[in-house]
Amino acid sequence: MPGAATISKGTVKPHLEVEGDWGLSGDVKVSGAKNSALVLMAAGLLTENALHLSNVPQLTDIEGMSEILSTLGVKLKRVGDELFLDPAKLHHAELPYDLVHGLRASFFCIGPLLARLGQAKIPLPGGCEIGARPVSEHIKGLKALGAYISVEHGLVTAAIPGTKKRLKGAEIVLDCPSVGATETILMASVLAEGKSSIENAAQEPEVQDLAKLLNNMGAKVSGAGGPKITIEGVKKLHGCDYIVMPDRIEAGTFLIAAAITRSALRISPVIPEHLNAVLQKLRDCGCSLKINGDEIYIQPGEIVGVDITTQPFPGFPTDLQAPFMALMATAKGTSMITEKIYENRMQHVSELQRMGASIRLQGNTAVIEGVPKLSAAPVSGGDLRSTAAMILASLSAQGISKVEGLHHLDRGYAAIEEKLNQAGANIIRH
Ligand code: EPZ
Repeated sequence: MPGAATISKGTVKPHLEVEGDWGLSGDVKVSGAKNSALVLMAAGLLTENALHLSNVPQLTDIEGMSEILSTLGVKLKRVGDELFLDPAKLHHAELPYDLVHGLRASFFCIGPLLARLGQAKIPLPGGCEIGARPVSEHIKGLKALGAYISVEHGLVTAAIPGTKKRLKGAEIVLDCPSVGATETILMASVLAEGKSSIENAAQEPEVQDLAKLLNNMGAKVSGAGGPKITIEGVKKLHGCDYIVMPDRIEAGTFLIAAAITRSALRISPVIPEHLNAVLQKLRDCGCSLKINGDEIYIQPGEIVGVDITTQPFPGFPTDLQAPFMALMATAKGTSMITEKIYENRMQHVSELQRMGASIRLQGNTAVIEGVPKLSAAPVSGGDLRSTAAMILASLSAQGISKVEGLHHLDRGYAAIEEKLNQAGANIIRH
């Protein structure tokens, strides 16, 4: 009929269909750490020799970082979880905006490009769903090492003035223990002339993994994992083989999956000391944990409400705040969760409320009254961790939920539905 409005079939967004009220059992395998692999890949720019990384997770963020490195001239080859980088011929020191946009980790390249080529041009990483995420500490540190930096029209241009093309060691004190700033300054200082130090440094395991890789490449870094890191600059770094550490956030997500479905699960590989704050809260809320090397066997009892405040490592990690809130939504009693790292990381509250959770949000503090059961609903995540939290909530809810936000999820969780289905879940990707 002429002029009739065509009723456009709503395009169905990619989503997971999650059967709820379903127990899990058996073993869940943890992949390599996304937040380590990304920075280790950038560190590969610091040498002309080949770098071989093992246990690299299959994630869209890793693909994005690989594309960025190849535009700089790095040759990459991927064989399963192995990644081979050949950075001999860097022909670029500038990253294109369309590639950088949405992958903040691309900013990690600024330090190595400066140290290797004496210059770098990187689009300013914008904020994201969870906060403004400035890079002022990163820039302050690079300037202290002698770099000239200008930020105009959303582009960060860095250069080493003079002819020497080598940064100079400096003593740097961070205003906040920023993970990215610590890693950026660390990578810029390993080839600088003389000694450097970073005080109020981030102590996250990913920073320690980076320092270990750099030392394997011939750098002289000490104190990583503590509040003060010292670096003695060297002239050159060489390649090496390196195994990426297991992903502590993925491991924590699966431990919470066991707790929220009241199922016993064996999670491995995991480095327990990377998760002490989380393990303690899981014990406090009613789970018994048996640790055997790099394996954790979790057996939930009656789950009761506990309070959490997110902190820099070794405190409770912000990346597990949303998954843990899903658990508290069906705990017995009241719990209070305060987000101290990001200004806007509570978007999962409204989604959990749609599933029947009883949560009162005041600023960045959520007060949760546990309910006996959540009910399935169509929900979505605003970042990769809140999308994971919605999967966990759906596993315990009555009915079949539809979870959207897979473009977030696939950035940080390798084949999460396959891993959970292997442990008895019933999740279908559409
Ligand atoms: C890393 O982000 C992780 N990402 C994040 O994981 C993680 O949440 C975060 O560390 C904290 O642990 C990667 O490693 C790729 P920050 P990063 O600089 O380095 C403020 C995930 O889900 N800040 O330590 O960007 C900042 O605004 C992601 O896997 C400043 O104020 O984190 C934020 O509020 C999300 N000024 C806080 O510090 C600065 O100059 C933590 O940021 C720098 C940071």
